[in-house]
Amino acid sequence: MASAGKFDGVDFSQVDIQHLTPELRQLGQGFRCVRGEFVTYWKQGRIQREADAHLCQCWIVRVQDALVGYITLLADKLQVENTLLVQEGVKYRTFPAVKIGLLAVDRRTKGLGIRLVEWAIDYVITEVTPIIGVRFITVDALYDSEVEPAYDVSGFYEKLGFEFADPNETLPPAHPYRTMYLDLKVLIEALALEKRDEDQV
Ligand SMILES: CC(C)(COP(=O)(O)OP(=O)(O)OC[C@H]1O[C@@H](n2cnc3c(N)ncnc32)[C@H](O)[C@@H]1OP(=O)(O)O)[C@@H](O)C(=O)NCCC(=O)NCCS
Repeated sequence: MASAGKFDGVDFSQVDIQHLTPELRQLGQGFRCVRGEFVTYWKQGRIQREADAHLCQCWIVRVQDALVGYITLLADKLQVENTLLVQEGVKYRTFPAVKIGLLAVDRRTKGLGIRLVEWAIDYVITEVTPIIGVRFITVDALYDSEVEPAYDVSGFYEKLGFEFADPNETLPPAHPYRTMYLDLKVLIEALALEKRDEDQV
């Protein structure tokens, strides 16, 4: 996770995020990630295949000719035990969501994971929620108990405000991930207010 050498001096907090196009698929030869399977997903074409099959959309970050990170988004349904929105008069236990599918950054970068997730939140709020009902962003946060210590990425998402769909889940989880969600309501409403103020000027 610490930066070392190659990308020192790059400010990833504002870096451009590009939609994956056929020309960008050739990038990624030198991509290095703390989890090798995420290099394989890219190099062996899993992401490209899923994008071609309309199962996800993928965005990437490059520094010159080097791929340094990618994120995929897809439609999802958040399922919870509690009636999360009962105070709003909504008794459902499943809710429309957009899911972060695959997220990975080059291990020589710093701050890029946060940049990609914050970008995704902003993108969903500005581009998706005005045209289709989406209340949550979800993620199946990788939890690998086969390594010592266990690889648990949930702390990264907690820093961004995500909560556990099942906070009482016993560890290690039954699947190699823990489902988490971010409630978009406050952010959606703040954006609507901002737009209203702009329109009044
Ligand atoms: C998870 C991942 C995308 C995070 O990206 P990153 O660029 O390393 O994260 P950032 O540099 O933006 O770090 C943001 C903060 O989260 C923290 N963080 C990163 N991984 C963490 C983890 N597993 N647990 C707790 N905190 C974590 C960082 O220490 C940093 O904290 P700081 O701001 O206080 O220093 C990256 O580690 C990665 O590619 N991992 C392998 C693939 C993976 O696990 N993907 C997620 C699948 S759900």
